[in-house]
Amino acid sequence: MKFEIEYNKLQTIIVDRLYKYLDIRRFGHLSHSQSILEIMDYSLFSGGKRIRPVLLLAAHKMVGGNIEESLPLACAIEMIHNYSLVHDDLPAMDNDDYRRGKPTTHVVYGEDMAILAGDALLNMAYEIMIENAYENLQNIEGHIKAMHILAKAAGIEGMISGQVADLKYENETIDADGLEFIHRYKTGAIINACVLAGVALEGIDSHLLKAIKTYGYNIGLAFQITDDILDIEGSFDKLGKEVGSDERNKKNTFPLLHGLDYSKIYVNELITEALDSLKEFGEDAYFLNQLALSIIDRQY
Ligand code: IPE
Ligand code: IPE
Ligand code: MG
Ligand code: MG
Ligand code: MG
Repeated sequence: MKFEIEYNKLQTIIVDRLYKYLDIRRFGHLSHSQSILEIMDYSLFSGGKRIRPVLLLAAHKMVGGNIEESLPLACAIEMIHNYSLVHDDLPAMDNDDYRRGKPTTHVVYGEDMAILAGDALLNMAYEIMIENAYENLQNIEGHIKAMHILAKAAGIEGMISGQVADLKYENETIDADGLEFIHRYKTGAIINACVLAGVALEGIDSHLLKAIKTYGYNIGLAFQITDDILDIEGSFDKLGKEVGSDERNKKNTFPLLHGLDYSKIYVNELITEALDSLKEFGEDAYFLNQLALSIIDRQY
């Protein structure tokens, strides 16, 4: 129970701050701000687990950080994540009509505005991180490191390359390494980066960093494998998105290549290894351990 209470607390802190960043009063002088903010709002406040910002805050806290300092980075990565979902759902990409139980952004506002709202979320993320770095000049090195980690993971060294491969190999069968590349890059990279960025703000020694990297990498990959599993076994009511999207788009997925049973075994193995890697953090790793475990049987 302690885990769920803490998770909900972090979620609330994140959402409250996100509301402040999208407050119309910050942009009142711009004549079109209201319409674009409304669309950004639609994407950002339609639900969502907020797992990436929660991870960033929890990792920062685990190594002794004050989450007031990392909260803007956490909000920024949630904006980047939401932009990636708005674009991922577009007809030119996965062509999905539902997200978080509601019609997708382009269905409601049109493709043109959905693209721009995604772009705006992406840019706002960097504005917020840079402003926050200015406000924390006493730890400027930590902030530059953290921003660099997040920026790389969102770009061609991370999510973008994964999305490119995901789309390019639709209708084609790829091998296990190719599939692991897609999942590691399109989803694993940002999840891993959240953990690493949280830690980078404080700095830790290299063998602990290695342990954190194993954790971040494993839970990121496991998270996308469970997403593939839920696309087959999940329900619209719980997921808020239509199942069968991967089959319709002829995507390469873990269940397709390895079967459902092996996919589940592999998720368990990845999480077990993630838990092992955090042993040296002892009790301090309680929250991150519970979060990793929650990925195994997530329903949404
Ligand atoms: C969905 O991410 C896209 C993937 C990378 C699998 P989430 O499952 O974190 O989506 P929300 O933010 O909770 O809706
Ligand atoms: C999405 O993967 C990864 C992103 C970078 C957005 P999916 O395409 O499988 O995510 P869902 O199933 O649409 O949420
Ligand atoms: Mg996709
Ligand atoms: Mg998709
Ligand atoms: Mg999916």
